[in-house]
Amino acid sequence: MVVKLLLEINDLAVEVSGRQVLEHIDLYIDQGETHVLLGPNGSGKSTLFMAILGFPKYKVTNGEIIFKGEDITDLTTTERVRKGIGVSFQNPPSVRGVKLMDLLKVESGQDPKDEKLSPQIKELANKLKFDQRFLDRDVNLGFSGGEVKRSEILQLLAQKPDFIMFDEPDSGVDIENVELLADQINVLLDKEKKLGMRKKSGLIITHLGYILNFVNADTANVLLDGRIACSGNPAEIMEDIREEGFKGCVECCKVN
Ligand SMILES: Nc1ncnc2c1ncn2[C@@H]1O[C@H](COP(=O)(O)OP(=O)(O)OP(=O)(O)O)[C@@H](O)[C@H]1O
Ligand SMILES: [Mg+2]
Repeated sequence: MVVKLLLEINDLAVEVSGRQVLEHIDLYIDQGETHVLLGPNGSGKSTLFMAILGFPKYKVTNGEIIFKGEDITDLTTTERVRKGIGVSFQNPPSVRGVKLMDLLKVESGQDPKDEKLSPQIKELANKLKFDQRFLDRDVNLGFSGGEVKRSEILQLLAQKPDFIMFDEPDSGVDIENVELLADQINVLLDKEKKLGMRKKSGLIITHLGYILNFVNADTANVLLDGRIACSGNPAEIMEDIREEGFKGCVECCKVN
């Protein structure tokens, strides 16, 4: 079996509004693998997410991002999304005047002029507890925290990307809805298949790690002050963080 490297980040440095937020970031994610990115508030997790997605405000000042063997460091966000990168934002914007239903049609490749949503997407919407009244609402406008997260996952199910980044998918979500979201994240990441058969890869950003009770990850990476401080077994790293907090990671880095 040949394992393909899907995402490769080499010595990445990122500047935001004139401030160097990330430095010396190396990250390698194989096809079929799920990585977790842990780290305290302000450590740079969302900045890395935005830089991989290619938001212009997040300026790459060093290093490169390789996706499917191609250097995408200078590509636009649209080009990256077309190549198979999908995201669930920590705080997505509301889109006034665009119905969730119409966005889903575009994301799933359906003709936007179709009156109805395709039965497949309608079924996915129902699984995520969205009825027609909800699908007729403007994207994220007035949605509750949990509804926003469910809407992000539904859009990813419509889009079917090869590599998906989830920025805090479990924050502000109640227990029943975390389980519902986790079920669909497992679908998105091909978790029902054996590792060698999986085509989809993911990067899950979380500071509490609650979602990891429901979604298996292969590797955890801890980001501290803009640098990856350590990488390893997610269960072991989570246990250490639960016991000693991220302060324990800081101490551990000093010793090593
Ligand atoms: N547009 C910006 N202008 C100035 N500073 C920024 C900007 N965006 C991010 N930063 C700073 O970069 C640092 C990293 O922020 P980032 O949002 O990446 O952290 P995070 O690890 O995602 O935190 P959280 O767990 O709270 O979501 C913070 O100190 C933040 O204030
Ligand atoms: Mg963040």
